[in-house]
Amino acid sequence: MFQFIDVQYKDILDVPSLLIEKGKITTLVGTSGSGKTTLLRMLNKMLSPTQGRIMFKAHDLETLNTVTHRRQVTMLSQNPVMFDGSIRDNLNIGLKFHEKNVGSDEMLLSMLERVKLKKALDTSPHVLSGGEKQRLALGRVLLLNSEIVLLDEPSAALDDETEETIIKMVVEYVRIENKTLVMVTHSKTMAEKQSDIIIEISEGRCRSIRGCTK
Ligand SMILES: Nc1ncnc2c1ncn2[C@@H]1O[C@H](COP(=O)(O)OP(=O)(O)O)[C@@H](O)[C@H]1O
Ligand SMILES: [Mg+2]
Repeated sequence: MFQFIDVQYKDILDVPSLLIEKGKITTLVGTSGSGKTTLLRMLNKMLSPTQGRIMFKAHDLETLNTVTHRRQVTMLSQNPVMFDGSIRDNLNIGLKFHEKNVGSDEMLLSMLERVKLKKALDTSPHVLSGGEKQRLALGRVLLLNSEIVLLDEPSAALDDETEETIIKMVVEYVRIENKTLVMVTHSKTMAEKQSDIIIEISEGRCRSIRGCTK
């Protein structure tokens, strides 16, 4: 699905060769500052390689329209933005950006249930804790129903039990819907339990593990 060819990003990442496969759950692990977020952002065209190429379904990412690409490849960032208004508005805003119809309250509430956020739709997002904001933003991403989902430390602000529940839910959704998931997690246990492929990034280099051809 994604193929890195001699990719470099400044002096931050150096990835001669890497494949991210369709329909798989790929997890990026590595210490803070190793380049995980940078790699994820390149998949979403938020950053472009300073050298080399990234192919997406046999097209050079550089040649693809960014807006169209981001409709297929949606990303939950490490510190998601909360917009003014209500939880309802915050769930719908992604759909609006994607020029889709807003969700019915029933649909939005069922998404809140899936991300384990027991709040009324009229609640202001500003009263939510860090972990709750992240789950709300995850709901916003999942509503988009895109082909490829990128999650940057979806569980950083969650306790271990909530983390496991949330990651399992996303993994199950991805499997059932036949999506492709690339996620970053600080939890090696979760990575080992939930992923098909684990890539360890160390000082900007893709060091090892299954799926990382180098
Ligand atoms: N846009 C940027 N320009 C220059 N340096 C950056 C930029 N973004 C991140 N960095 C640096 O690149 C390194 C990797 O960052 P990042 O990808 O966020 O790591 P991780 O997500 O693994 O913690 C860090 O040293 C960070 O300070
Ligand atoms: Mg990061």
